Amino acid sequence: PGAISDLVESRLRDVADFPKPGVVFKDITPLLGDPAAFGEVVRALAARHTESGSRLDSVAGVEARGFIIGAALAHELGVGFVPVRKAGKLPGETVQRTYDLEYGSATIEVHADAVEPGERVLLVDDVLATGGTAIAAWDLLDDCGAEVVEFATVVELAFLGGREAMGARPVHSLHVVG
Ligand code: PRP
Ligand code: HPA
Repeated sequence: PGAISDLVESRLRDVADFPKPGVVFKDITPLLGDPAAFGEVVRALAARHTESGSRLDSVAGVEARGFIIGAALAHELGVGFVPVRKAGKLPGETVQRTYDLEYGSATIEVHADAVEPGERVLLVDDVLATGGTAIAAWDLLDDCGAEVVEFATVVELAFLGGREAMGARPVHSLHVVG
């Protein structure tokens, strides 16, 4: 509940049977296309961390939609951005993890030197579904020596159990579906 949740809900589009029959895809492109709404979302995600008063060194986001939210958020917070990419895209030495998706499987990776040991990283994505992506990204950053402070997402598909799958890793979502 709340104004930001209502705003996100109003800028989501449900697409039936994408990318597979039976999946109702929550499309964030209406949100991204509305500069006032996109700005509100980025400021809401940022405010939580500026208000906490604890140090934040970087924002990490998962390709591809996590780059959109994550890069805007990093800029808003005045910290660097760490791209977590689909396998085979990063040029340097990488660390990787393979995980299951709501609709398939994937391998993601990060540059082995993307974070300094002890660096405090906020992990962001557009959607939390089963949690597979967020767990893999979190554990990758952990493998690199980062201290991941929280996973933040615009939309949480609660009926897919991602929050439970995340276990002790803290999750913050602006809008919960289901
Ligand atoms: C989507 C979404 C999250 C992930 C959530 O990305 O952007 O990263 O799935 O699902 P999960 O919680 O079940 O892991 P997708 O793999 O579709 O890639 P894209 O951003 O490149 O479209
Ligand atoms: N919408 C957007 N991204 C997703 C979804 C969805 O419904 N499920 C898994 N990733």
